[in-house]
Amino acid sequence: MTLEEKVALCHAQSKFSSAGVPRLGIPELWMSDGPHGVRAEINWNDWGYANWTNDSITAFPALTCLAATWNPEMSAKYGKAIGEEARYREKDVLLGPGVNIYRTPMNGRNFEYMGEDPYLAGVMCVPYIQELQKNGVAACVKHYALNNQELWRGHIDVHLSDRALHEIYLPAFKAAVEEGGAWSIMGAYNQIRGQHACHNDWALNKILKGDWQFDGCVITDWGGAHDTYEAAVNGLDIEMGSYTNGLTSESAFTYDDYYLAAPYLKLLKEGKVPMSTIDDKASRILRLIFRTAMNRQKPYGSVCTDEHYAAAREIGNEGIVLMKNAPVEKKGAPLLPIAAGHYRNILVVGDNAVRLLNQGGGSSELKVKDMVSPLDGLRALYGDKVSYAQGYVAGRPMYGYADEIPASVTDSLRAEAVEMAKQADLVVLVGGLNKNHFQDCEGGDRLTYGLPFGQNELIEALLDVNKNLVLVLLSGNAVEMPWVSRVPAIVQGWYLGSMGGHSLADMLSGAVNPSGKLPFSFPAKLTDCGAHAFGELSYPGDSIRQEYKEDILVGYRWHDTKKIPALFPFGHGLSYTTFAYGKPQASAKAMPANGALTLTVTVKNTGRVAGKEIVQLYVGDDKCSVLRPLKELKHFAKVALEPGEEKEVTFTLTAADLKFYDEASSAWKYEPGKFKAYVCASSTDVRGTVAFEAE
Ligand code: BGC
Repeated sequence: MTLEEKVALCHAQSKFSSAGVPRLGIPELWMSDGPHGVRAEINWNDWGYANWTNDSITAFPALTCLAATWNPEMSAKYGKAIGEEARYREKDVLLGPGVNIYRTPMNGRNFEYMGEDPYLAGVMCVPYIQELQKNGVAACVKHYALNNQELWRGHIDVHLSDRALHEIYLPAFKAAVEEGGAWSIMGAYNQIRGQHACHNDWALNKILKGDWQFDGCVITDWGGAHDTYEAAVNGLDIEMGSYTNGLTSESAFTYDDYYLAAPYLKLLKEGKVPMSTIDDKASRILRLIFRTAMNRQKPYGSVCTDEHYAAAREIGNEGIVLMKNAPVEKKGAPLLPIAAGHYRNILVVGDNAVRLLNQGGGSSELKVKDMVSPLDGLRALYGDKVSYAQGYVAGRPMYGYADEIPASVTDSLRAEAVEMAKQADLVVLVGGLNKNHFQDCEGGDRLTYGLPFGQNELIEALLDVNKNLVLVLLSGNAVEMPWVSRVPAIVQGWYLGSMGGHSLADMLSGAVNPSGKLPFSFPAKLTDCGAHAFGELSYPGDSIRQEYKEDILVGYRWHDTKKIPALFPFGHGLSYTTFAYGKPQASAKAMPANGALTLTVTVKNTGRVAGKEIVQLYVGDDKCSVLRPLKELKHFAKVALEPGEEKEVTFTLTAADLKFYDEASSAWKYEPGKFKAYVCASSTDVRGTVAFEAE
């Protein structure tokens, strides 16, 4: 290959493709968003949709929902199905999954990620990547690293301790590379310790390509490159989207002007950057092309098959979280499941009951072939017993953002719903966020922790006339719940994709027993969240710089250690049955240095319906030379149990589960001493502990 041919590989030739080597018959690379489905075709040279008629696909549940299944088999199904769809659409690189850690509920993009715990996110992303790549489609794991908020994402300079990096923010990316074998990774927009993530020497050369031995390609986020020299020497391979933010005229700026195009060629020719940089980039890009576009084993793929819809529905069924389920009358049965034949008049309320939530959100927006809304799903089950009132209006497209909705509109919609609720036996309010700007949406963070569009007032007003209220929240983020003690049943329904309405109806009716658990904490108020406990510099930063002052105490690690209970804790989720845990047993009193310790615990379904329980094993270090969280998730298992059935769950702890990242030696450190293993049903529901000595 000539030098020019090699350089041509390193940058975009259109919005979503990069060049091959036509002279040698080496094909282009075609990329597509995103993590939840294969995005519709975009124009060659602007952000507009191309309006093809053959690019409608299956929308899978958002990644928060996948994480909430706590079931790696669901990740495998997800990766296989989305991989087949990407293959059918002739994509070589799928821009996902996202594994940035949920640091604050204000982050507009949390719905695309897998929650607040690095171990959970790491375990869950691996089968997705492996199954996706079996289709000859590369995963592009994003956004590496520390893109934990959307506000000022293009430049905010994140500072944090080495410990927080290695213990919290890097492990899921490490698992994606080392265990998942990801073929590509997307550099984040933000800066890390003074250098842009897309050409950050430390993040790319030292950690990713050095320590983790990553043999794939680093691709920029769209417009994430800022400097030719740094891009050349600091480990970036493919530059995408420069000056293509839709705001800048491209007439004067061509693909040839990209940092890794003509300016790079010039530096190479002048000897200002070593030839080894381009040889490394070209080798990596060719390897990616051989793995994908030139992969001779790749299947043909398929879209919108029965299997894909079944996978979407099953993942939704396993990920929905029943957060609260209380009786309405003292001594009565819990409100859910909706008893068959019990209600004659079910009122469904809410914009999100009919809203197409495949739309909005930014780059993960999807053009679906089919979409079952919550109202459709409930009507399919309960027919004409179901009536509907909008209750509130959720901003665009009719009225613009929240503050533009006239109060008279909100008031009259609420009044109508309240009137209808008086006549209903049961009210199902489907609300939440709406995937528009300042909500769960790329490019901006949320402005308030509370529910938007007058939903708090609506909830209270409905409760005043009808106590049989089921609240279904569709969101990828926690929200403030001032009415929590009054609402008997609360369901976290995420964004569930094409089959979402069926999944919700399955769960609400009891056809499916809920088995999801929260992948992040719901703080009672925003300042109860570690990221918000240290003022502006910690979140959102001063617009230039940001310091993660809560350090390693992210999510439940903060709530637990600081004794600030979350309203709903990490790992929480109810079932229509009950589970009894036996006393956990350890294989020995001590764990030998470099040895292992086996823990067993029995779990029994003590209720009347089959169900699945997620057994969580946390470990705490009783005494340590550095601050440690009270306890940290180290293993988990999801067990299916028939009524009356009991199973034994076994976990093996090793030295790796006890180590912390030692800043003095820049290595993981094992400190002998007293530890405690916590067998839990959630991060605060401890069912048994075992104290042991690490030798
Ligand atoms: C997003 C990426 C996305 C890319 C291409 C960027 O704005 O941050 O996640 O893959 O656009 O659409």
